[in-house]
Amino acid sequence: MRSLIDIQELSTEEIDELIATAKDIIANPVKYREKCRGKKLATLFYEPSTRTRLSFEAAMYELGGNVLGFASSDNSSASKGESVADTVRVVSGYADIIAMRHPKEGAPLVASMHSLVPVINAGDGGHNHPTQTLADLLTINREKGRFSDLTIGMCGDLKFGRTVHSLIGAMSRYDNVKFVLISPDELKLPGYIKQETLDRKNIEYTETRSLEEAIPSLDILYMTRVQKERFFNEDDYIRLKDTYILNEAKLLKAKKDLSILHPLPRVNEISVEIDKDPRACYFEQTLNGKYMRMALILKLLGVE
Ligand code: NCD
Repeated sequence: MRSLIDIQELSTEEIDELIATAKDIIANPVKYREKCRGKKLATLFYEPSTRTRLSFEAAMYELGGNVLGFASSDNSSASKGESVADTVRVVSGYADIIAMRHPKEGAPLVASMHSLVPVINAGDGGHNHPTQTLADLLTINREKGRFSDLTIGMCGDLKFGRTVHSLIGAMSRYDNVKFVLISPDELKLPGYIKQETLDRKNIEYTETRSLEEAIPSLDILYMTRVQKERFFNEDDYIRLKDTYILNEAKLLKAKKDLSILHPLPRVNEISVEIDKDPRACYFEQTLNGKYMRMALILKLLGVE
């Protein structure tokens, strides 16, 4: 039995397989409609979510399976003080696979150690978000047709942005990938990711505060929201939240084939005028998330 807690648990071949399955699902959806008949997915969400939870649920429904779960810790026994270990032990008797989001880093890992069924990390605090990365990877693959030879700008909250952490982990395995890390000083990428991933693999990266200076060199621009819920001090959030606002003026110097990604939700960091720019990929990205979650569910359930 296998869970997915960190994107690095997937080999490059497995990522390729998931992408191939997702593309086959896109091309032949009918073939997959009964694949998970009789199976149940439990979504245990201790933190707010729109896309991740609903795309997991839509994924399971489109595979012919069923869904149960909760969308907030307030209406689960967590509010009575139950531990994640106990909850998951119980839920693994009711469901065949679990997707869990939790504000505490490491909670889905603990859950996987007590679960009788596969656990998927649907976001743990400011740490990791491997299934968002699967959505990002399918988007990059469909946009660029490759994972190598890319300059990727990561912009916004690189400190608390778990999607950034997982995507850097995944993209660091490909040849000639360079990162431009664009953030205010207070929201720089954590040192452990620089040391354990970028430095260890000898990946070229630069850090800058200026989106304008970075833009011309980029093949991919990954925008992120400042993660309000991780701040201790509201004043800091208010001061930093609108550091970057991508608009058409800032895109004037961008490459014609730039791909603009964002895990969403967007707050102010991408002006709505960009939505009609052919370089904007973030709504396609949300759909890609559903297909990759379908592929992942099939893989972890061992469905042919
Ligand atoms: C992201 C998350 O939850 O980390 N959202 C998502 O899953 N698509 C990004 C965010 O909340 O900013």
